[in-house]
Amino acid sequence: MSVFSIPGNRRGMQQRTLFLCVMFVTMLSVPNIQALTTCDIDAISQDIKSLLPQRDTFNNAGLDYSLENFGDRTGSSTRRRGDIIGAAVRLSFHDAASFSPVDGNGGIDGCLQFDKPENAGLQAFWDFVRPTYERWRDFVGLSLADFWALLSIVLIKEAQGPTIPFQWGRIDATNCDFDEGRFPDSTESHRALDVFQRLGFSNEEMVALMGAHTLGRAVQANSGFSGSWARSEDRFDQFYLKTLLDIPWRRVEVGANTGKMQWVVGNRIMLNADMALGFDIDGSNGDPNTGSPTVCGGQGQQNTCARAGTHDIVRHFADDIEAWFDTFTTAYVKMLNLGQGELKEVIFDGNCDNGDSLDDTVFPTAPLSHCF
Ligand code: HEM
Repeated sequence: MSVFSIPGNRRGMQQRTLFLCVMFVTMLSVPNIQALTTCDIDAISQDIKSLLPQRDTFNNAGLDYSLENFGDRTGSSTRRRGDIIGAAVRLSFHDAASFSPVDGNGGIDGCLQFDKPENAGLQAFWDFVRPTYERWRDFVGLSLADFWALLSIVLIKEAQGPTIPFQWGRIDATNCDFDEGRFPDSTESHRALDVFQRLGFSNEEMVALMGAHTLGRAVQANSGFSGSWARSEDRFDQFYLKTLLDIPWRRVEVGANTGKMQWVVGNRIMLNADMALGFDIDGSNGDPNTGSPTVCGGQGQQNTCARAGTHDIVRHFADDIEAWFDTFTTAYVKMLNLGQGELKEVIFDGNCDNGDSLDDTVFPTAPLSHCF
């Protein structure tokens, strides 16, 4: 499918109304949707999915989480897919993390300070995705905040993650200077995790959301950190949760004299904030970047670190994928609503003109009214 064509659904009717719609939206220059149907969402979702290259032949059936399997076995298209999926999810979290309940602003508002260090790399991703958004903004008048939300929902499902219900009606902010300083410091440990309390998440929800680090990777040119958390960067699997506790991670500096510390085993990484979910890594001097401990996780004597208060939650989600998916879904829906009022339901339309069945990545099962 050409990414610029209106995907099969209702092409005739859509092309006739396209001109009028574009004129109308251009005149208003603000999204003005009266209703969104499941056919609209299906078509937009197909367009989003066409951003991904085909997956290579790497097969993670029977995924083995043991130490010997830490070699880099990701194929190139798997990595490319992981880059796109990972960046979409990171973008949504960064949009959400600016929420301030005290000041009553920020949150999911389609506004990100792309030039700030914590958002490094996201501008390039957005330049890649923007044409897809602009088609649908002009066509159905979707807000940017709605599009970013849907983008991550569709791609999480493409990564074989949970089915996350989508609602719409988010209002974009035209300015977000107030975001300044609200994103957690990535060199910190449990103090970085304090952001979840500000955003109103429970410890369970925090651990579930952090499990998304199983997607994508860290790039030195962006964040100063380097490597991926999991073996298959385009799979929403339990690799991150399982390895966090069961592998002896060693703290190292990324490159010479960078001052950036991360935790590694083979080609896999954890950040301080990841490790802090399982262990007390601040040690005696209260700083996760200097002093001991320098090895955490693994069995028996390998592990020299005290357990963090959230250790058992990590274990629970590592052992029970349904529990993780359920909590992740609840938390993600909450995240995609931060700073917004009541959202609207997508209207069920079983008669998409080309007769395509609805896209089951976003529409899991009947009754549909429960899914949005
Ligand atoms: C205290 C909380 C967090 C910190 C300190 C943190 C920090 C980071 C850092 C430093 C990177 C590497 C960025 C790069 O080099 O391009 C990253 C990537 C990522 N983060 Fe987080 N993160 C946090 C929470 C979250 C949450 C809650 C989510 C999802 C809900 C998330 C999703 C991701 C994803 C998917 C990537 C991979 C991006 C890619 O492949 O381009 N993060 N994060």
